[in-house]
Amino acid sequence: NIMLSWQRTAYHFQPEKNWMNDPNGPLFHKGWYHLFYQYNQDSAIWSNITWGHAVSRDLIHWLHLPCAMLPDQWYDINGVWTGSATILPDGRIMMLYTGNTHDLVQVQCLAYPANLSDPLLLEWVKYPNNPVMIPPPGIGHEDFRDPTTAWRSPGGDKWRITIGSKVNKMGISLVYETADFFKYELLEGYLHEVPGTGMWECIDLYPISLKEANGLDTSANGPDIKHVMKASLFDDGNDYYALGTYDPIENKWTPDDPELDVGVGLRYDYRKYYASKTFYDQNKKRRILWGWIKETDAEELHILKGWACVQSIPRTVLFDPKTGNNILQWPVEEVESLRSDSFEFNVKLEPGSVVPIEVDSGSQLDIVASFELDKEAFEETTEADVGYDCPTSGGSVNRGMLGPFGIIILADENLLELTPIYFYIAKGHNRKVETHFCADELRSSVAADVDKIVYGSKVPVLDGENLTIRSLVDHSIVESFAQGGRRVITSRIYPTKAIDGEARIFLFNNSTGASVAAVETRVTASVKIWKMSSANIRPF
Ligand code: FRU
Repeated sequence: NIMLSWQRTAYHFQPEKNWMNDPNGPLFHKGWYHLFYQYNQDSAIWSNITWGHAVSRDLIHWLHLPCAMLPDQWYDINGVWTGSATILPDGRIMMLYTGNTHDLVQVQCLAYPANLSDPLLLEWVKYPNNPVMIPPPGIGHEDFRDPTTAWRSPGGDKWRITIGSKVNKMGISLVYETADFFKYELLEGYLHEVPGTGMWECIDLYPISLKEANGLDTSANGPDIKHVMKASLFDDGNDYYALGTYDPIENKWTPDDPELDVGVGLRYDYRKYYASKTFYDQNKKRRILWGWIKETDAEELHILKGWACVQSIPRTVLFDPKTGNNILQWPVEEVESLRSDSFEFNVKLEPGSVVPIEVDSGSQLDIVASFELDKEAFEETTEADVGYDCPTSGGSVNRGMLGPFGIIILADENLLELTPIYFYIAKGHNRKVETHFCADELRSSVAADVDKIVYGSKVPVLDGENLTIRSLVDHSIVESFAQGGRRVITSRIYPTKAIDGEARIFLFNNSTGASVAAVETRVTASVKIWKMSSANIRPF
């Protein structure tokens, strides 16, 4: 439908049409990045799931390939569901995925490339003795899915994988061991469990270096390494991660901070981001995170458009040595190859100001903004806003003494449609100064069938740091990274006026700055903006 065609993204990965969900089995092979994904070939709703397949040299420009796997066996006839790749030392690729059987039992299946010397890995063979794992006693037939990439068992002669499930309302992860990827043994106990979190989908477990600025292969462990555990919570639709330690002898993962455990602590992203998966990129020695970005408008519109959902820009994942208790997510460096004309400026943002920025292509941008505050204002002016919380504090129209201020993206010139991405500084219940990072979708679209909410999170800001936002704007999506990637908010937004060449951006400071006599809370913004070219994403 031509009427909604501007919602198509220009440099995010999307199939040409129809429905897509989870990223599957990402890997690098013979010079090509491979992305597989949950795909319905027939329509824009979730159904009849196959494995879509695309390849790229640089994670930005893609060639669509024929589907890698179709639901054509009794064990996956109701869907070739999510899975992960393991590259063995001899170069073989083992792809484990969940099959939804003819009687709706979730089982794990193995597939491998028919021809490893084909860089495009066009043909996939399903192991003749599939399935290789079936739900063990005590596990529901519909609660057993999404095997991870394998890591080496202690001793090094076997491999382990984990699979999400639940027992009553407790999210759990089961661990299996295998020598050959054909036969598997369930290990005793759980890798981890968290009461009250419900079904764990798409678990991820990976090492992260405390000292080095590169990623680690999935089997790495030892000193100066922590393990990130992630679960996609079926019950609330978000990806939660936690930092912790993996003990291979006990086969237990333990969170650093039980209050920030999986499912109750940190999220990868504070708006729309689900079923994500990392892989180790041996090409550039980094760990890359992919996530599925759902639509937030009505299903009828997906059918009308003929497509639904996008993948995030892949993000590198590193430990944050400065805070010690979160990861840093950052768009892969290759996205910068799309940057073209740039604009740079500094602006004083007086309380109550909205400053237009002259760029003629506001729908495809990479924005890097840094905000500096007049320091005198800090202590006293934050007193009034105790208990601030992005989702419940009224969004960007609610004026405080030190916020909100930030950028406004995908706005029309009359500001009938606008999406502010902002900081808000306030005191917490403990009287400590806290910085909140929020995205306000309340006025993103004048259309009716669209979620209208404010989302966000507190973000750590260390002494001497400015407040920074990087936003990748791409027609109907914006991914925003605060403080170098300590917190991320990805919004799907559906403007009707702020489209293509009509989309404008602004800087704003809606604080009052008025409480303390003689203190005007002034914010200085330093901004650099690049226009972004479109990626080349096309059929093979
Ligand atoms: C997550 C998920 C997975 C499942 C797949 C089916 O979005 O529900 O648990 O394998 O999608 O498409």
